[in-house]
Amino acid sequence: MSEQPGAVGSPWSAGVERVADGSVAVAGVRVAELAVRFGTPLYVLDEADLRGRARSYREAFEAAFAQVGAEVDVYYAGKAFLSIAVARWVHDEGLAVDTATGGELAVALAAGVPGDRIGLHGNNKSDDEIAAAIDAGVGRIVADSLVEIARLSAAATTRGAEVPVMVRVTTGVHAGGHEHIATAHEDQKFGLSLAHDDDADSPAMTGLLAVLAAPGLRLVGIHSHIGSQILEPDGFVVAARRVLALRAELAERTGVLVDEVDLGGGYGAAYLPGEVPLDPDRIAKEIAQGVDAAAHELGTPLPRFSIEPGRSIVGPAGLTLYTVGTVKPVRLDGGFVRTYVSVDGGMSDNIRPALYGARYHAEVVGRSSSAAMVPARVVGKHCESGDIVVHDVALPADVAAGDLLAVPVTGAYGRSMASTYNLVPRPAVVAVRDGQARVLVRRDTIADLLALDQG
Ligand code: LLP
Repeated sequence: MSEQPGAVGSPWSAGVERVADGSVAVAGVRVAELAVRFGTPLYVLDEADLRGRARSYREAFEAAFAQVGAEVDVYYAGKAFLSIAVARWVHDEGLAVDTATGGELAVALAAGVPGDRIGLHGNNKSDDEIAAAIDAGVGRIVADSLVEIARLSAAATTRGAEVPVMVRVTTGVHAGGHEHIATAHEDQKFGLSLAHDDDADSPAMTGLLAVLAAPGLRLVGIHSHIGSQILEPDGFVVAARRVLALRAELAERTGVLVDEVDLGGGYGAAYLPGEVPLDPDRIAKEIAQGVDAAAHELGTPLPRFSIEPGRSIVGPAGLTLYTVGTVKPVRLDGGFVRTYVSVDGGMSDNIRPALYGARYHAEVVGRSSSAAMVPARVVGKHCESGDIVVHDVALPADVAAGDLLAVPVTGAYGRSMASTYNLVPRPAVVAVRDGQARVLVRRDTIADLLALDQG
């Protein structure tokens, strides 16, 4: 923990500290106590840190957009991690909640988030998901295709409802950390493209016109999400300009000036010591100035804006606590290569290294060590050699079975993408705040797994 936890350059949440005996505490609770009370592996969320990040996004965007005379809403993207408590925290901090499925919608509603502070996404929403969203009175459903616009209209008219709809467009901007998480280039499944032949409307324009014409639907906005783990502002600004141009073109053709533009999520987090995350103040200013300039050029007033950060709010607020089970030094051609440190979880609680080649950091957190640091690889307990938690990290040479190891920045897309591969129960999620710890999501048990098996 060479940098101050919570500060730029540190992957640790603000509540993490090394205490007098050399062990680590999170928000005043020692990791040894967490391990004894709740078992390992364990996802640990630092509530104050998460709330702080939610607030900084909201305040940074509100301030920057106020400078150009526009309003902005921050939707927390629940796909990164959603539980009832987390939905309440972000709601308390003035954020709305973006859901991508009926499951996420149900959690947001169970948390008491008002329907009009919830959005529903998804490129293939089921009829049940659409019905649940309409019944809950969600503030917006983001339509992803022409087929879906027809489906939404049918559901709305059957229910006698007027459904607020945004149209998701793909702007051709390709940004983000990995091909699988970049979403606005053309050759992928999401949204309606802005690209078109000279003599034809773009799918995006066709979608907007379809919503305007569809019974039961009210066009409330245009949506663009360009990717995830983005560390430079340029892509957001280019995409926003293209969306504003589309909005101006629609106004010219129909007289309808769409009220809101959503610029999606994707704000990058820092995963390794020394890495610099996207700064909300800087990005908010750059986007606000970019859209202001674009609106002037187009001669249209600015719409209301919204954004949907997930990772950057919950990722750095979380860590995973593991217990070391075995240690295997590997030598090749007579030379030491690295130590393989096996922990009691792995690709079932964090699939990101296997799926995206994502890099993480790890430290021994149950004690201090004055041993020399050696190259190490942290691996899981699953039956494949790609079951890697941390590819390359320096750990003390005396790391041994029974040591507690923590991997920071696992709050996003850790538990939410967890599986029960090899029938390993998924870890609990615990929140810590002011010296108190409580379970947000309990650990799966073998009995849970057996209960699903009908024999
Ligand atoms: N809005 C939309 C429409 C999205 O598709 C996403 C992420 C977000 C917001 C939130 O993006 P964030 O701010 O969290 O980057 N499983 C991958 C990330 C997939 C993101 C999918 N969409 C990962 O672990 O990196």
